Amino acid sequence: MKPTQATRFLTGITTSGTPHLGNYVGSIRPAVQASRQPGVESFYFLADYHALIKIDEPARIQRSTLEIAASWLAAGLDPDRVTFYRQSDVPEIPELTWLLTCVTGKGVLNRAHAYKAMVDKNTASGLDIDADVTAGLFMYPVLMGADILMFNAHKVPVGRDQIQHIEMARDMAYSFNHRYGEHFVPPEAAVEEAVATLPGLDGRKMSKSYDNTIALFAPREVLKKQIMGIVTDSRAPGVAKDTEGSALFQIYQAFASAEETAALRQAYAQGIAWADAKHLLFERIDREIAPMRLTYEALINDPARLETILLAGAKKARAIATPFMGALRHAVGLRRLSDMAAPAANVAKAGKASLPSFKQYREADGRFAFKLVDAGGGLLLQSLSFDSPKLAAQAITRLQSEGYPAVADLLEPLAVPQAWLTDALALLAASKQG
Ligand code: TRP
Repeated sequence: MKPTQATRFLTGITTSGTPHLGNYVGSIRPAVQASRQPGVESFYFLADYHALIKIDEPARIQRSTLEIAASWLAAGLDPDRVTFYRQSDVPEIPELTWLLTCVTGKGVLNRAHAYKAMVDKNTASGLDIDADVTAGLFMYPVLMGADILMFNAHKVPVGRDQIQHIEMARDMAYSFNHRYGEHFVPPEAAVEEAVATLPGLDGRKMSKSYDNTIALFAPREVLKKQIMGIVTDSRAPGVAKDTEGSALFQIYQAFASAEETAALRQAYAQGIAWADAKHLLFERIDREIAPMRLTYEALINDPARLETILLAGAKKARAIATPFMGALRHAVGLRRLSDMAAPAANVAKAGKASLPSFKQYREADGRFAFKLVDAGGGLLLQSLSFDSPKLAAQAITRLQSEGYPAVADLLEPLAVPQAWLTDALALLAASKQG
């Protein structure tokens, strides 16, 4: 029986900054937790091609890549369990970007929020609508679509601001599938409602653009200083305080248990001094972060080790991307001329010698297997072994009638693009009819 397929999660992190507590609570921590669930397959990657759209300081891109990789690993991401890689180590992604570019309406991209915001701003200032807009910014959603579709992710955990991009990726999947056959799974955005957006030092959403962030892995003393700088009202010690609208309280809640939160709520009512409340918050955050900070510092100081981890991740990613890209190239007609599919009418003329064929055989251990080879003897597909020749024959029959996905669990992983196999099976079927 084919095991039910795991749900595949994929998300990218743009390498344009240093992770802060808001990133940790909103994205890193839930992602690491989700990656430990049974029945999920997770792909996390450093979106460094995306970073080039915003940043033209090479050293900053490199530094951010280092810091983000170290942060995710220190927060408990297990690179053996998930696929953790750097976008620019997978050249199939920009290659797929081009194929998707050719099935995406320019008008669709005109409506992307980030681009539209620039156009609106330029229009309001009386400038050319595209002033300061690079083609990279305009194409951002297509690169993101390629990130997602390359791995046929089912669910894409993102913030609300990214939902439109996932919808565009769905449309790209439909457009491509419509033209070239079912290759892509239309992805869905997974927006975690329960995960709070963390307020920053000034009470607005914690964000680099407001300059109100608290660094995730700053040294303990820096963390303390930053927390002491959280804006509060001027109520004196002994005067009851509101939890509503208190950034300090909200940040505490994101780290504390229900009991701890209830206790702080009571302390607020009883007029805890702000300095004491900040101290509680600092200790609570530090309790969770301190062990990770040690790992973070070790990783940051060992870039070669991080590089090895990322390259191993890229290898895993490319084990999927390379054959899939081969199938996609074939699907759109970027094909080797030596693989010219013989029109069905010619098959009968050319005779059996030009057809792919199944070879059943017995393995050294006495079990039964088969393979499919093309006319030139090239291996297209190899089965796992079966208890009897009858079971092997049944698998061949199902492969011919129901296609590759129906029996994929009875076969070795494909070493050739799936489309070659589909063509070979079609050729065999055509020869039987003719
Ligand atoms: N655009 C995303 C962001 O800014 C980052 C990203 C790039 C991404 N590629 C992706 C997220 C693919 C999810 C899937 O947050």
